[in-house]
Amino acid sequence: MKIKEIKNVAVVGAGTMGQQIAMNSVLNGRAHNYRVVVCDSFPAALEKAEKWAKEYLDGRVAKGRITKEECEAVRKNLSFTGDVDTAVSQADIVIEAIIENLEIKRQLFAKLGKLCKPDAILATNSSNMVSSKFADVTVHPERLLNMHYFNPALVMQLVEVVCGPHTSEQTVETARAFAINTGKAPITIHKEIAGFVANRINAAVTHEACLLLEKGIASVEDIDTACEKGLGYPMGPFRLMDLTGIDVNYYVRSDRYAESGDEFDKPSPLVIEKFQKGEFGRKSGKGWYTYNTEKK
Ligand SMILES: NC(=O)c1ccc[n+]([C@@H]2O[C@H](COP(=O)([O-])OP(=O)(O)OC[C@H]3O[C@@H](n4cnc5c(N)ncnc54)[C@H](O)[C@@H]3O)[C@@H](O)[C@H]2O)c1
Repeated sequence: MKIKEIKNVAVVGAGTMGQQIAMNSVLNGRAHNYRVVVCDSFPAALEKAEKWAKEYLDGRVAKGRITKEECEAVRKNLSFTGDVDTAVSQADIVIEAIIENLEIKRQLFAKLGKLCKPDAILATNSSNMVSSKFADVTVHPERLLNMHYFNPALVMQLVEVVCGPHTSEQTVETARAFAINTGKAPITIHKEIAGFVANRINAAVTHEACLLLEKGIASVEDIDTACEKGLGYPMGPFRLMDLTGIDVNYYVRSDRYAESGDEFDKPSPLVIEKFQKGEFGRKSGKGWYTYNTEKK
């Protein structure tokens, strides 16, 4: 089995994840000289991503992390365009990072199937949708899979490479090699499952933390301290939920419960209570903890 050679990368979606996946590919993969194009159908999103990329690279040079010459080489290999169709037609791998909406993603994958080179790899960065959801609209489903990056994608090393029943071994190996070449630590998930591996483990920890709280066994602070000081977690489950959003936890678990019918997947009654009160965590100033939201 031959690993496909990647030269041109297209990242579709210039939002939080897309801009960082693109920057990671070009910067941390610079030994491989990948040419990366970021495309987005919204000009404002592209403009914001391009500004962020410029400032980020300037900052790397200022901090002495890369030389001016390296920075120039990276800049040359990174481009931004609103012309999604042309950008993807040249790509050896397309990484989709558009909004989490099934119909919009299906429309994009149907289009990619027609526009891309027949041997191009199509990867979705969706947090929740397995690539099987797009296999029927894709011309070459053997080249389709999930590459799930973690936020912030420039920092977090894990990439979950998820194989669907349609995904070929060559596609998996090429995606893994690309992840490694860009400084990532890929894991292979052999069967599609909602939430993949890392978020499922995190969900189980969060579930247990909520049960302990519900039963009055220990306080929010002490459960977080147990995880941080006893288990070496960088952040306890309640602090993490406040950061990612209690509303996000509520929606993800509600969707998963609707799909599985498994009681384990149900949002905790304490999460439901917080959700109904609008206490979403840091973003609303109050969640499991209270935050000072006054502008300085
Ligand atoms: N944010 C996270 O923490 C995180 C982590 C892992 C995976 N993900 C997944 O990554 C994907 C993107 O998430 P995000 O947080 O970057 O979203 P985001 O809203 O920040 O960015 C999405 C971008 O897609 C663009 N877009 C929408 N429709 C498009 C189309 N048809 N063609 C081209 N561009 C289009 C939007 O203009 C926007 O710039 C989602 O599938 C999400 O599940 C997110």
